[in-house]
Amino acid sequence: MNSFVLYATKKGSSEIYAKEFARKKNYRLLKREQASTEDIAGSDKIYYFGSVYAGKVLGLEKLKREFPNNNLTVFPVGLSSNNDQEKLAEIQDNIMSVFPQAEIIHLRGRLIKEQLSLPEKLIIKMISKASKKKATEDKLDIEKAIEQAVDNGSVDCIDLAVLEDIH
Ligand SMILES: Cc1cc2nc3c(=O)[nH]c(=O)nc-3n(C[C@H](O)[C@H](O)[C@H](O)COP(=O)(O)O)c2cc1C
Repeated sequence: MNSFVLYATKKGSSEIYAKEFARKKNYRLLKREQASTEDIAGSDKIYYFGSVYAGKVLGLEKLKREFPNNNLTVFPVGLSSNNDQEKLAEIQDNIMSVFPQAEIIHLRGRLIKEQLSLPEKLIIKMISKASKKKATEDKLDIEKAIEQAVDNGSVDCIDLAVLEDIH
């Protein structure tokens, strides 16, 4: 079967996971922008690692135009954890509106304040400010992570060991 790994990233987290997964499985690895229409249309199965911004995985709509085949596993890389069910459901709904049959496996990424654009910095500052007003037990894991990035400059939730369990 002609399987390969594609990744779409802004700041590198999805690339770290995609590289490790491709290495382990011995699959070809391509950055989204480098994959040709022929590469994509000619594949039987794609493992897609895409960063999450505002609940959406980067680049999925474009992928749909080139790969109407639904044999796809999507790995959304974001800061929400498995405890943040509503956040994960939002990401999942957005993926399923494009690829209804995709398998979805959530992964956690990282946030480095220095890498962010000014508007992105403002967004995370606002989220952190709102989160600080909440009682600890009411905070989502994504909010705790964002607070940490704002206060300490970065937060790293990347866990490559999670890939061990994926077959
Ligand atoms: C402006 C902004 C919006 C984000 N929105 C979400 C989100 O909706 N859900 C989520 O889980 N993570 C969100 N994140 C966290 C990113 O998904 C996380 O930092 C991820 O590791 C980025 O991937 P990349 O390094 O491959 O670009 C957001 C981060 C920023 C800066």
